[in-house]
Amino acid sequence: MEGRILAANWKMNPATKEEAIRLAGEIDDLLSELPLVRLLFPPFVYIPLLKIRNLTLGAQDVFYEEKGAFTGEISPPMLLSVGAKWVIVGHSERRNVIGESDEVIRRKAEAALKAGLKVIYCVGEKLEDREAGRHFAVVENQLSYVPVSEDLVVAYEPVWAIGTGRNASPEQIEEMHAFIKERTGLKVLYGGSVKAHNAGELARVPNVDGFLVGGASLKPEEFRKIGEALAG
Ligand code: PGA
Repeated sequence: MEGRILAANWKMNPATKEEAIRLAGEIDDLLSELPLVRLLFPPFVYIPLLKIRNLTLGAQDVFYEEKGAFTGEISPPMLLSVGAKWVIVGHSERRNVIGESDEVIRRKAEAALKAGLKVIYCVGEKLEDREAGRHFAVVENQLSYVPVSEDLVVAYEPVWAIGTGRNASPEQIEEMHAFIKERTGLKVLYGGSVKAHNAGELARVPNVDGFLVGGASLKPEEFRKIGEALAG
């Protein structure tokens, strides 16, 4: 995996396939020249519909079994068969809204890697953990579940910075990324309110190997500016 990584996490957006196709097409054109690993994570149902040339597609989640009686779940081979090459596991919304445990997330990452998918494994502390000074301990515990593989990158996403417009400071990011790299040897992306206006500053932080972008990845022009800042 050469180069910095720019990943668009659309979450449960947009509302229709027509919008998804239009948005993906715009992003595909606007990012085509940037010397980055360019990844797009749309909702599952849009993956086979998006005919893009300059971005690699991934899924926002995956299940850990290959097939069988698991109503509502999607397996790693299914994702590969519709063109996904990457998957996100352990996003804080899955941890905290859906209630996924570290053990479940580990199993998902292992199954995805075994099937040949590349993985973005998300970690990050909640506000109460940071305020209590437990942030390194919380992330260290989450990291103890991460399968180390050259096909896996970590995304550090402090929960208090996701979708809040409040990004972590360069110092907070630098020290946590150094901590994660020291323990895993893996690449580390930053995620949490990355926007056009702060991307330049965040892209200069040592140990930032890329961005995982939520809200701003639904705005093609803004997303391109983030990509330009990351490409340097
Ligand atoms: P945000 O989301 O950029 O909207 O804060 C980031 C993420 O959840 O991956």
